[in-house]
Order: sequence, then C-alpha cells, then structure tokens
Amino acid sequence: MPALLRYTDRVAYVMDREMVVITPKEVIIKDSEGRVVKREPQRITWSLEDAEKGGFEHFMLKEIHEAPQAIHETLLGRLANLEVDGFLSEGVTSVKLVACGTSYHAALVGKYIIEEIARIPASAELASEYRYSQGATERPLVLLISQSGETADTLGAAREAHRRGCKTLAISNVIGSSLSREVDKTIYTRAGIEIGVAATKTFIAELVVLYLIALKLGQDRGTLGYDELDRLKDQLRSLPRAAQYVLNKADEIRALAAKYGRDTKDMFYIGRHANYPVAMEGALKIKEISYIHAEAYAAGELKHGPLALLTSSTPVIAIVAQDPTYEKMRSNVGEVSARGSPVLAIGTEGDKELPKFVDDVIEIPSIPWIFSPVPVSVALQLFAYEAARMRDCPIDKPRNLAKSVTVE
Ligand code: AGP
Repeated sequence: MPALLRYTDRVAYVMDREMVVITPKEVIIKDSEGRVVKREPQRITWSLEDAEKGGFEHFMLKEIHEAPQAIHETLLGRLANLEVDGFLSEGVTSVKLVACGTSYHAALVGKYIIEEIARIPASAELASEYRYSQGATERPLVLLISQSGETADTLGAAREAHRRGCKTLAISNVIGSSLSREVDKTIYTRAGIEIGVAATKTFIAELVVLYLIALKLGQDRGTLGYDELDRLKDQLRSLPRAAQYVLNKADEIRALAAKYGRDTKDMFYIGRHANYPVAMEGALKIKEISYIHAEAYAAGELKHGPLALLTSSTPVIAIVAQDPTYEKMRSNVGEVSARGSPVLAIGTEGDKELPKFVDDVIEIPSIPWIFSPVPVSVALQLFAYEAARMRDCPIDKPRNLAKSVTVE
C-alpha cells in the first residue's frame, strides 16, 4: 500500500488463483478459468503523509511517536456503548488468542487482560503451532491478531479454527486484508499505516482493542459492575496521555540506551503477569533492530536455569509495575543484582522504593496496573530504537526480515 499511495487511494484486492490484465485503459481481474470477475475498488483512508517520515529520522521513530494518536483513533466512538464493530459476546465462554511475532505478544497480554477484567478463561497460542495441535472438544471464540492481516500462519490458523467449528474474530490494522475474509468478524485497529518492519504503534493499538473486548465481555457477562466499568473506561480514555508521558522522556531513554545497549552482546528482560509478554516484546524489539541477543523470562523462572548466564556484562531490563507481583519482582531483581548484573527498571512515577534496589529507572505514569503494558511498551520500543540507532543499524529494514510474512 505505501508504494501505491503516491498514485491512488483506490485499490481492488486480488484473491488467490486470480490474475490481472492491466492496460493503459483498464484493469481486468480474471479467475483461473479465465472468467472476468467484477470487483469494486475500495477507498483507502491512509494519506500519502502517513507513508512519509514527516521529519523523523526513521519510520519506526515516527510510528512510536504516533502511539497516542493510534490509541485515540482506535477508541473513537467505541467506548461509550462498547460498540466494537458489531462484536457480540453472546455464547462466548472461553477465548483462544492466536497470532505470530509481536501480535502473539499482544495475544499473550490479551489472555491476562481478558481473564483479569472479564473473568473468562483465555489462552494464547502461536499460529504456527495452533494449526498442528489437537483442538479440545470445547469451542472457544478464536481471536486471530495480525496487523497486516496477511501473515500466512495466522491465515492458516483461521481456516483451522473454522474447521474445528469455532467462531472467529480478527483484529487487524488493514481494511480488506486477507484475514478479514477468512473470519466471521473483524475489529480494526486504527493505527494508520505502519512501514517500519518492527511493529510499534500497531502493537499498542492491538492492546487497546483487547481492552475493549475484555470490557465488552465483562459488561455482557455481568462480571463488571456499572461503577467498575465506568472507571475502566475513564482509564482507557487516559491512555494516550500515559503514552505521551513516556514519549516526553525520549532524551532520558536515549542516555539509558547508550549506557545499557551500546556495546552489549546479551541482555535479559524480565516481568510478571501481563508484563511478562511485554518483556518478551521488548526483547523481540531489541533483537530485531539492534541485533543484541536478548532473552525474556517470566521473572519467577530465572532461578530455574537462566541465572547461570548472568554476569556483570548481561544487563537486565526489569518491568517493576505497581501490581500485585511487585514484591515478587523485587526479590527477583535482588537475585539478579546478587550476580552483578546491572538492572534498568521500568517503574512507576512516585515509587520511592524502586531506585533503592535497581541501578536506573524509566518511569511510566501512575495508572492502574492492568493498563501498564501500554506505557511500558512505548518505553521499551524507544529504548530499542535508541540502542539500534547508536549501533548504526538499518532500523526500518533489519536484515533478513520482511514486514509481512506470507510464507509458512
Ligand atoms: C514485529 O516487530 C515483527 N516484524 C513480526 O514479529 C510481526 O509482528 C509478525 O510477523 C506478525 O505480523 P502481523 O501482525 O502482520 O501478523
């Protein structure tokens, strides 16, 4: 799409086994039998400006800075009545979230969010694995997440979910994407076009849709009272500000990226509960764009093996939000420090204890912990970006990677 925006805002999609004849006068789509197919073009709302860097050094940096806007747009008109693109929660008793890469990390966060807010059993699975595992007899709502809507494994998983008789719902950033044609319903994120290979604002927008779905499920199943629901909606509305709060710390994050990322070979990311998958996402970001080897662990797992790898040259990025796991994170950080590893924490503003047991802190604003994955992710994206920039990496086009993975 970015390549075409310069010339047109009207596109017609070509389906599998179709071919196109283009002449100066017309475009004819034919099926495999040679029959002409009528297909109305769709209007794309993305502008050419969206496909340009707009003064930023890289698309990735521009897209990280677009997080507040992506959150705002994705919530627009959906919060008041929890009208989310016609999604009906009727009959949903459990949810299976399926995706790849960064979208899989959103799926993992979604599992925690849905269980916490809606009190419905939820599980997350990689699309490439889901297809080959045996489905249980119960039929969960299968939620397929893909910003591009073109990832081959996720498309295959959607077909498999149908084969198993499950209802399917997609979350995608691209209207009319292949995934939207494979599922019963699609909820669109409205993050705008994303060009950098590393997914940033679309991850944040996926989280926002997952909060909306959790609220909707919680409302319809009566697990959330009116007051609680209103409180959660207000907090969702404040998320663009929470993301902006972190973006305003860009200089501080750049200095910390220099300290922790410039000459580092290996790094660890740790977190618990909803911030465990956020740690996984932080590690993926730094791997793909800065080529630093990074591993993410649920903090409680360190003592089951990975502690053996920690030395003074393996920095640990610890997400220490003010959530029910705070004290446990504190003791895990203690285990890390005892091995001499420097610790950079992502913590909450006003937490006076944290600086006493870590080396450095990037603060997120004080918001209810269930929403902390949003500002924490923005901080980790900026950190990865700055580390990669310092190491002179080709940030928007990392080696060996493609924006959409259309092969299995
Ligand atoms: C993210 O930074 C990666 N480039 C990659 O993991 C990506 O999230 C994955 O390929 C899934 O893409 P999708 O969301 O378009 O399905």
